[in-house]
Amino acid sequence: MNGTKIHIFDTTLRDGEQVPGCKLNTKEKVQLAEKLEALGVDVIEAGFPISSPGDFQSVQEIARIVKNATVCGLSRAVQKDIEAAAEALKPAKRPRIHTGIGTSDSHIKSKFNSTREDILQRAIQCVKWARNFVDDVEFYAEDAGRTDNEYLARVVEAVIAAGATVVNIPDTTGYCLPHQYGEKIAYLMNNVPNIDKAILSCHCHNDLGLATANSIAGAMAGARQIECTINGIGERAGNTSLEEVVMVIQQHKHLGLYTGIDATQLNPMSRLVSDTMRMPVQPNKAIVGANAFSHSSGIHQDGFLKDTSTYEIIAPEEVGAESSKIVLTARSGRSALAYRFLKLGFEFNRNDVDVLYDRFLQVADSKKEVEDADLATLAKSYKAETVHA
Ligand code: KIV
Ligand code: ZN
Repeated sequence: MNGTKIHIFDTTLRDGEQVPGCKLNTKEKVQLAEKLEALGVDVIEAGFPISSPGDFQSVQEIARIVKNATVCGLSRAVQKDIEAAAEALKPAKRPRIHTGIGTSDSHIKSKFNSTREDILQRAIQCVKWARNFVDDVEFYAEDAGRTDNEYLARVVEAVIAAGATVVNIPDTTGYCLPHQYGEKIAYLMNNVPNIDKAILSCHCHNDLGLATANSIAGAMAGARQIECTINGIGERAGNTSLEEVVMVIQQHKHLGLYTGIDATQLNPMSRLVSDTMRMPVQPNKAIVGANAFSHSSGIHQDGFLKDTSTYEIIAPEEVGAESSKIVLTARSGRSALAYRFLKLGFEFNRNDVDVLYDRFLQVADSKKEVEDADLATLAKSYKAETVHA
């Protein structure tokens, strides 16, 4: 692969699983972790070991079975959290402790009733605790999206000096605009003297629908890891969607970036996560939604049938989706109707299609979608009329 690798850090099993109703048991988490590894993710955030005995066990089991990916456990900047994460990660070939603290003034004052100086010391301390157990420590500066850049740069420099290998810059509230988030990463790349000793990570929430755009802006500015979830699930409006960032990077080769993800597994993976978590995917979701490769308006169908590239930038097989669909509604045109008749084995000339199109519109106006059975009825009665005429 040419270019710079973007490490894909999947947090479906941690940030994604925090969604009400999406809780998984150990067996389900292990099954998803195996598939995430096969998909090619670099890091699997398996859970938050101190949060419950069940999650501790899930992280431990995942640490046991994962062969190549790094397995990561979350903790607060609290010694007993870090000890629990270290214990759960013991069987892992590549363990990573993810620890951190809020750095925005809002978090410092309202959550911790503290000061910037004190938070800086606690940040250094938690990285040092974690480094007693593992070589790979990721620090998160929670609410970095709303943290003053100068202070954030001091925190980043200090945690790298304390031994952090990855520094996560979360836009926890999904507040940033893409250029602001990109500038934040660029600021850190340019103003943290020891930045070459660690990599920066993007962790963007989707409260304004900007999580994917912000993560890509971060990667373009020098971040080398993106944290994301399958189907974009996560707290509130969700996290960056894995399938979206992977396909943005794959489509826009001029960015000079690549990932290790096997894109042909994206749709099966999306369905597995949706079924296991009982969390439906919105039909218009990019890459994995039921309508991502459906064409229903006459203008689009006509162009698509002449050349698929007129209305599709990705072929469905590239992302493991079923083949593109020509859906018939009252907004569809004659070419699509003739195409669907042909697929059902009915060949009509132009005049026939003109007559059938008027009848089709009557059916279409009374239904959301015209099905094969409706078309077969139309075709057969038309054939019967024309034979007897
Ligand atoms: O959104 C966030 O800030 C987080 C951290 C715990 C990494 O999920
Ligand atoms: Zn998060």
